Amino acid sequence: MKVNINGTIHNVTSSEDTPLLWVIRDELNLTGTKFGCGQAQCGACTVHMDGNPVRSCALPLKLVGEKEIVTIEGMKDKISQAVQKAWVENHVPQCGYCQIGNVMTASALLAETKKPTDTDIDNAMGGHICRCGTYQRIKAAIHQAARELA
Ligand code: FES
Ligand code: FES
Repeated sequence: MKVNINGTIHNVTSSEDTPLLWVIRDELNLTGTKFGCGQAQCGACTVHMDGNPVRSCALPLKLVGEKEIVTIEGMKDKISQAVQKAWVENHVPQCGYCQIGNVMTASALLAETKKPTDTDIDNAMGGHICRCGTYQRIKAAIHQAARELA
């Protein structure tokens, strides 16, 4: 099968039922995207599909088709760079395991909503679990990124 990841078409040998996460990590060796729950419950495996955050652990390859997938390794646009800078400056990560997924969803939020309210952020980020409890720093970083992008 062919899959478009970070702007490159890759020929992959995984079966069509293989979750996208395993193609990204095991076949393409893009290990920034993390495995957490494997049940679409934690957000650690979030990537973008045609610009929207999706959970790659629960997305079989056959549903990806020709859609454009972007992983953290491909997040080089202005919004995602502002988000990553704000993450660093706000010292958001603790263990860091959940943060790639959070950055992916935060970037998608700011692409749609230039000045999100706390409620907008809660609604967008609510499905991400952080065992280290960095939720307030995530919120602060999203507000900072929005200010810098304004
Ligand atoms: S690993 Fe995919 S949502 Fe948890
Ligand atoms: S920073 Fe450790 S799980 Fe979120």
